Amino acid sequence: MNFEIDFLVLGSGVAGLSFALKVADYGKVCILTKADAAESSTKYAQGGIAAVMYSPDSYEKHIKDTLIAGAGICDEKAVRITITEGPKRIEELILWGTNFDRKSSGVFDLAKEGGHSEYRILHHQDNTGFEIERALLERAKNHPNITIKEHQYAVDLITQHHLGENVTRHRGDIECYGAYVLNEKDNSIDTYLARFTLIATGGNGNVYSTTTNPIVATGDGQAMVHRAKGKLANMEFVQFHPTSLYNPTEKPSFLISEAMRGAGGVLKTIDGKTFMEKYDERKSLAPRDIVARAIDHEMKINGEDHVYLDCRTIDKSEIMNHFPNIYAKCLEIGVNITKDMIPVVPAAHYSCGGILVDENGKTTINNLYASGECSSTGLHGANRLASNSLLEALVYSNRAAVDCLKKKDSVKINKNIPPWNAEGMVLNEEMVLISQSVKELQQIMSNYVGIVRSELRLNRAFDRLNLIYKETEELYNRSVLIPQLCELRNLIANSYLIIKMAKQRKESVGLHYLAKY
Ligand code: FAD
Ligand code: SIN
Repeated sequence: MNFEIDFLVLGSGVAGLSFALKVADYGKVCILTKADAAESSTKYAQGGIAAVMYSPDSYEKHIKDTLIAGAGICDEKAVRITITEGPKRIEELILWGTNFDRKSSGVFDLAKEGGHSEYRILHHQDNTGFEIERALLERAKNHPNITIKEHQYAVDLITQHHLGENVTRHRGDIECYGAYVLNEKDNSIDTYLARFTLIATGGNGNVYSTTTNPIVATGDGQAMVHRAKGKLANMEFVQFHPTSLYNPTEKPSFLISEAMRGAGGVLKTIDGKTFMEKYDERKSLAPRDIVARAIDHEMKINGEDHVYLDCRTIDKSEIMNHFPNIYAKCLEIGVNITKDMIPVVPAAHYSCGGILVDENGKTTINNLYASGECSSTGLHGANRLASNSLLEALVYSNRAAVDCLKKKDSVKINKNIPPWNAEGMVLNEEMVLISQSVKELQQIMSNYVGIVRSELRLNRAFDRLNLIYKETEELYNRSVLIPQLCELRNLIANSYLIIKMAKQRKESVGLHYLAKY
């Protein structure tokens, strides 16, 4: 089937929903999402959202902290934009119905996380993302101009390539006309034509075996833009969160929020000794790259599978009020965090790079915007400062909306688009061909392209990935499409981009750490 709309939004997390709410008064919006609408990284965000609210905090302090964490690779303009426009976007979020915790005096109860010099994290207990997703989704569902369609898998962007035209990225003349979308309800491929398309498909944590990301985070947007010949940047900067709950049978890994270290939690080895003082004067509250590497090193020299986070000194009422979900989750596996130390291990958590966008969220492809974790605005540089990502998504979705509305009357829907060609495709009956390749890819990436890398490891990863790539392309070219096959293809594209950019960066910086062997 063919659908025509003004604004096509791929993804229903904070980036997609907030963009939709900003443009919906000016045209028809269709949000497509590949699972249930609420399923997203947004829903699992715990710690909160960083913004300058009161003195003694200031924009300059937040900017400085972000630049320090980014290790010299941040785009300072993007940092200034995000931080100075942040508070306005927070106001809007509250107007849209989001609740943040307040003290009895009425002021916001601000938390602190690694790398922040001030208390500036707005939160809703320890499930801030759930609260934001709830409020935005409710608002979007009630808007007459917004349609949300669940279980619709965006396969590819439509560009001149589908019209057989010869365009190149270098001339800047690639245009996006919408997307081909797999309707999971009947396995058909629909054509969505739009004036503007926003990619808000989130991160790619599932490139790794251990991740805090939900299963929907397979880097689909990044891969679609790569295939459409758009530019991506900084993909090598993959952030591992230092503290996911060590519970090997559970996928995705449950996060133990950094806010627990902000509240006084201390990292310890398996025999109960502190170790962070050996690595950084900020100890357990050093930026994430430093803490994750320190944990990785301690685990390797001690031959252990995890370290501990000791939260026993945190006031019990603080635990119950601020961290009720973490308390309950740990109790489920027999850990009473008021009495026992929490076993923790680093896990892939956030992609700092992604689809290259300008200050208005516009990609290198015309009429195509990207916002949220799939994008690379330049804010995070070589390492994201905790709780800056929800803020970035809100700021850039707003900017993208403003830019689209300015151009709206000059951009027309292209109706001359051929339907998806599925001629001669057969149903793949062996799921193992896909599931085994996903496992192999995740192992390659975790072992060779994880927290510590080396030239040798990167070369090995590249060669092994190439084999999986060839087998998968062959399968893709003869198979009726299913989401699992598309996701495998997208995970391969993301892995390729991570390795390629990691190989190009010859020095250790931020999250890209090269061992000398
Ligand atoms: P998401 O919220 O991930 O949404 C992506 C959407 O795209 C989903 O709806 C998905 O189904 C859909 N989608 C994907 N592919 C397709 C496709 N092919 N077709 C159609 N739909 C598709 N950041 C903070 O700032 N503060 C925090 O406290 C914080 N805590 C976190 C805790 C956890 C456990 C995790 C995993 C992340 C956390 N982050 C935090 C990071 C932050 O949550 C994410 O970066 C942010 O929510 C990303 O929002 P998004 O809208 O870009 O993507
Ligand atoms: C956390 O709560 O530790 C996650 C914060 C983030 O990833 O920004």
